[in-house]
Amino acid sequence: MPEKRKMQLLMLLVISLCSRVASHLYPVVDICTAKPKDILVNPICIYRNPEKEGEGLGPEQRKEKIPESTNPRVWELSKANSRFATVFYKYLADSKNDNENIFMSPLSISTAFAMTKLGACGDTLQQLMEVFQFDTISEKTSDQIHFFFAKLNCRLYKKANQSSELVSANRLFGEKSLIFNETYQNISEVVYGAKLWPLNFKEKPELSRNLINEWVANKTEKRITDVIPEGAIDELTVLVLVNTIYFKGHWKSEFPAQNTKMDKFHKSDGESCTTPMMYQETKFRHAFISSDQVQVVELPYKGDDITMVLILPTVDRSLGDVERDLTSERLQGWLDSMKEITLSVHLPRFRIEDNFSLKEKLQHMGLVDLFSPENAKLPGIVAEGRTDLYVSDAFHKAFLEVNEEGSEAAASTAVVISGRSFPMNKMIFNANRPFLLLIREAALNTIIFMGRISNPCS
Ligand SMILES: *[C@@H]1O[C@H](CO)[C@@H](O)[C@H](O)[C@H]1NC(C)=O
Ligand SMILES: *[C@@H]1O[C@H](CO)[C@@H](O)[C@H](O)[C@H]1NC(C)=O
Ligand SMILES: *[C@@H]1O[C@H](CO)[C@@H](O)[C@H](O)[C@H]1NC(C)=O
Ligand SMILES: *[C@@H]1O[C@H](CO)[C@@H](O)[C@H](O)[C@H]1NC(C)=O
Ligand SMILES: *[C@@H]1O[C@H](CO)[C@@H](O)[C@H](O)[C@H]1NC(C)=O
Repeated sequence: MPEKRKMQLLMLLVISLCSRVASHLYPVVDICTAKPKDILVNPICIYRNPEKEGEGLGPEQRKEKIPESTNPRVWELSKANSRFATVFYKYLADSKNDNENIFMSPLSISTAFAMTKLGACGDTLQQLMEVFQFDTISEKTSDQIHFFFAKLNCRLYKKANQSSELVSANRLFGEKSLIFNETYQNISEVVYGAKLWPLNFKEKPELSRNLINEWVANKTEKRITDVIPEGAIDELTVLVLVNTIYFKGHWKSEFPAQNTKMDKFHKSDGESCTTPMMYQETKFRHAFISSDQVQVVELPYKGDDITMVLILPTVDRSLGDVERDLTSERLQGWLDSMKEITLSVHLPRFRIEDNFSLKEKLQHMGLVDLFSPENAKLPGIVAEGRTDLYVSDAFHKAFLEVNEEGSEAAASTAVVISGRSFPMNKMIFNANRPFLLLIREAALNTIIFMGRISNPCS
């Protein structure tokens, strides 16, 4: 049976709230067709962005090109998420050795913390607004952000007839002896589709952990297992918020299997390793930005809505340099300058996994109070506003695989280039050294996954 080359990725994020739930099920309004007035998003506290001179201009005033039939606030939220993505990526890159791969879903992180934001007040709320860049949205109050988040999710995950599979799931797991705030439960279910599942953390923390991990495995085609490490859930755990994103797409233009050859990949430390290198020559959107010494190429998946963007520094520039200068504006400039050309693309076949705790990185970025047992303010989660809740830790685990199998269909695509003698004057994109990678929704420009491939060989 011919097997299509396929790509699968997933990510997961778990936040557990420590300290202190009866649950009810509520009828759910379809957020995707709802108008703001149909859905009351009234979290316990609302943050107002202080008016900043010259800032807060909406995209209308900045004369930006907003994609058709897109709510300007949804567009701004997508940009805010991209800003968070690049800043967070840099913190993550700083914490890792240059030879280590990175893979994560910034969108998943933003989503899980937006869910947490529903119950936050005071400085805890303000820091969430600032660190996740939600305060850059011209909507001045924090409450509507949830509504726009829901609309963004509708655009991303509920596309009719899409060829790639992109699904997200949210869930709250709460200590069963507590009464959770009804408004909180209502909003998180309507806006994020996250129902509350009561568990016995107090008496059976390990059983609860296993059940959550099993739920996650179920939602991720068993790709992500044991996301919550041993000991992370104990009798003080009150609530665990989980977001998962799963993606599977087929290249619009496959790499013919017979083109794949073992080849060298040059790592940052000067060592090289051997890895299967795929190859094809096709029309792709591409840019060479000489001032930044990077090449950028976009490989679309079938359906064209989701694409993989590869960013490869020239041989004279290290990926570390590019990472240091990375901003979402610069990235946007690169993406905007891509033009369709015929390109020779060499890309390793790889599979990477990454997992890390988010706590330390987010604390460095300024999200301090949320993780502090003394200072966290999350009165909106448990009924009667218990004041001793805080987020004890947050875990992220992600997986990416670019698979290819010899397939009949690919074999008949007779691309007759097998050697490594490149035709002259032909534009070549040879990812045989560390590169950055994004998986994005192209129309809305939402970064769904982001990472770097420093060592595809392992
Ligand atoms: C639940 O939260 C809402 C705000 O979202 C608040 O007005 C209400 O007082 C809270 N209810 C309880 C029982 O704490
Ligand atoms: C839906 O998919 C089918 C088969 O792939 C295609 O023929 C059709 O044009 C698609 N419709 C839309 C609205 O994209
Ligand atoms: C929660 O939603 C249900 C159904 O929509 C509604 O009857 C109930 O009043 C809501 N509770 C709160 C506190 O908003
Ligand atoms: C996981 O899926 C299996 C099989 O569908 C089901 O029996 C089990 O209850 C699910 N577990 C959780 C935690 O959702
Ligand atoms: C997380 O990654 C580390 C290496 O960074 C590895 O040792 C550990 O087993 C991983 N944990 C899980 C749960 O996959």
